[in-house]
Amino acid sequence: MKITVIGTGYVGLVSGVCYAELGNEVVCVDKDAGKIEMLLEGKIPIYEPGLKELADKNRSEGRLAFTTVLDEAVRGSDIVILAVGTPPMPSGEANLTYINQAALEIADAMNGYKIIAIKSTVPVGTNERVAELIRSRTSEPFDSISLPEFLREGSAVKDTLYPDRIVIGADNEKAADAMVQLHRPLTDQIIVTDIRSAEMIKYASNAFLATKISFINEIANICEKVGADVTKVAEGMGYDKRIGASFLKAGIGYGGSCFPKDTRALIQIAGNVDYEFKLLRSVVEVNQDQRMNVIRKLETIFGGELRGKTIGIWGLAFKPNTDDVRDTPALEIMQYLADNGVKVKAYDPIALDNFKAYYGKEGVVWCDKALDVAQDADALCLLTEWDEFAEADLNLLQSVMKQAILIDGRNVFKEEDLLGTDFIYYSVGRPSLNKGVKEQIPVMQL
Ligand code: UDX
Repeated sequence: MKITVIGTGYVGLVSGVCYAELGNEVVCVDKDAGKIEMLLEGKIPIYEPGLKELADKNRSEGRLAFTTVLDEAVRGSDIVILAVGTPPMPSGEANLTYINQAALEIADAMNGYKIIAIKSTVPVGTNERVAELIRSRTSEPFDSISLPEFLREGSAVKDTLYPDRIVIGADNEKAADAMVQLHRPLTDQIIVTDIRSAEMIKYASNAFLATKISFINEIANICEKVGADVTKVAEGMGYDKRIGASFLKAGIGYGGSCFPKDTRALIQIAGNVDYEFKLLRSVVEVNQDQRMNVIRKLETIFGGELRGKTIGIWGLAFKPNTDDVRDTPALEIMQYLADNGVKVKAYDPIALDNFKAYYGKEGVVWCDKALDVAQDADALCLLTEWDEFAEADLNLLQSVMKQAILIDGRNVFKEEDLLGTDFIYYSVGRPSLNKGVKEQIPVMQL
């Protein structure tokens, strides 16, 4: 099939490359000439394992092209997939400006029947409104499809080529069948629904996963107070198939370009039809508060006085294996520390440059090496679970620090890792350790 993908962000670029890998002829379009130029030079604007190799292969085999010229690409395609951004507006509502702009440009380029699918996460009703918009500009025939995307950054290629399921929202069988045929090589688990349900599946899935994270984070907070270990609790819960083991990792809360945006958007979508999504409101609130978990621990350790301290930050990306820093918990944590007179030093193996631009303030000491962050620090906070940190030599680490204090916001280290070190170690939802020995809460206090 001949496919145009509009938007070369995470979703668009990964999808475009993977559709080409399936043997389709794909043109990826973006308005951003700089991005297209990079792609044409064989450079990938995002850090995503495996993507460059797959893009190079499909380009050299002639199935993948990049351009800024939307109308030409659309005219040469049977299927047009919109994967442009839907960033949040201050109200939390998704901003559909890019979707609408692209829709108008598609309408003006139409030259016969096409399937127009929306992969961007859009509120219920958007596909129908976009169809109306296109219909108001052209009498050429087309079908609308809702094609929600479930890929995760860092494992986007794998998630796209081996998805748990494909969801196709269609209002007629012919278009649905064509989309099923396109995705059949990926999985047998293809769910065809009406358009509005498909749009809802995406929001409901992300909201549910965010709920699992906030749930386990609250359980972690209680574990800390009663002297239990949340990793064991999650393991014990996860074996129950009805619960499932994934997305039960306690930490400093979810970030990224999807969960924060989509949870707020769903609250807004519900609000627009006079429904207050109380549970999801709490999920968002808990997530916000969880980011301060690290700060609360630092304050406990330093008796409430952080001013004048040197604190190292390990990890700035919202999760490992990505250079994406959108809505990363590291931002608020670092801003809080800087605003409270702390000297902050920071390092990330991949996301440092992106974070510098995102942070936008002066005063942080940016480090090129993990160990430099720890040099003369009063405490070190691990905020992203990069492998590099898990493999660190803790004895070497403590030897360069002013005080051997480690706050592990992602539960990277195990109790035995800390044995034989001098570290005071706090993690999330697990007993704190002093030189590798568990600090017990007396049963009397419970
Ligand atoms: C998410 C969805 O998983 C994906 O299906 C959707 O298409 C886009 O949004 P992504 O944001 O790339 O993907 O990352 P994900 O791996 O889901 O992690 C999101 C955040 O949750 C990260 O900040 C991560 O650290 C956090 N998280 C995840 C936890 O804190 N605990 C967990 O158990 C899992």
